[in-house]
Amino acid sequence: MDAKTLKIKAAAEALTYVEDGMRLGIGTGSTADEFVRLLAVRVKDGLDVIGVPTSERTAALCRELGVRLTTLEETPELDLTIDGADEVDPELTLIKGGGGALLREKIVAAASKRMVVIADETKLVEALGAFPLPVEVNRFGLAATKIAIERAASSLDLSGPLTLRMTGAEPFVTDGGHLILDASFGRIPDTRALSLALHAIPGVVEHGLFLDLARVAILAGADGIRTLTT
Ligand code: 5RP
Repeated sequence: MDAKTLKIKAAAEALTYVEDGMRLGIGTGSTADEFVRLLAVRVKDGLDVIGVPTSERTAALCRELGVRLTTLEETPELDLTIDGADEVDPELTLIKGGGGALLREKIVAAASKRMVVIADETKLVEALGAFPLPVEVNRFGLAATKIAIERAASSLDLSGPLTLRMTGAEPFVTDGGHLILDASFGRIPDTRALSLALHAIPGVVEHGLFLDLARVAILAGADGIRTLTT
């Protein structure tokens, strides 16, 4: 079964969590896109939901397909967020941000009663960190922030390249106007300690470790759907 089919299967399963009248957080990425496509079909059939998109990219797809949108200003409390992930561990701690939307994704997930992650089963790992951890940083003081991240990582026995994410010859710029450093630290034994250490650095806007946010992970594989819960 190809990756796209698995993403569609996970997205279809996530739709069973969506009820009429819900206020949804709508994630970003290729798996979240499949969810939007399936949601749009249900909306055309009369499902009444409203969504807060986690990126301009997702907002554009929702508009194109007729999924009604709102903002967190208008609708600050959400019932359910459905989003993809780059890595999921057995406790449902995540690495997110491969698509560069981690800041809005985390704000939206935190404003939701429940976050459901959708992915193909290759995203499930014993320990996070093979996927480089995205760290969203302010443009101001980039070099100083980079050194501070390296020192914080080193205090936790972590090291590895911090790579400025690029789009062609230009730095990738997030929807919030920030930059992303992808941190290739390898296995992260203590995600909570790293989260705290990164949050203590002034130039760090947010990082892609999602702790205590996901409640359900729907993982699609060739043998079917596996659902993990916390
Ligand atoms: C975007 C994300 C995505 O959810 C993550 O990168 C997974 O994307 P995909 O479903 O395309 O594999 O965090 O910031």
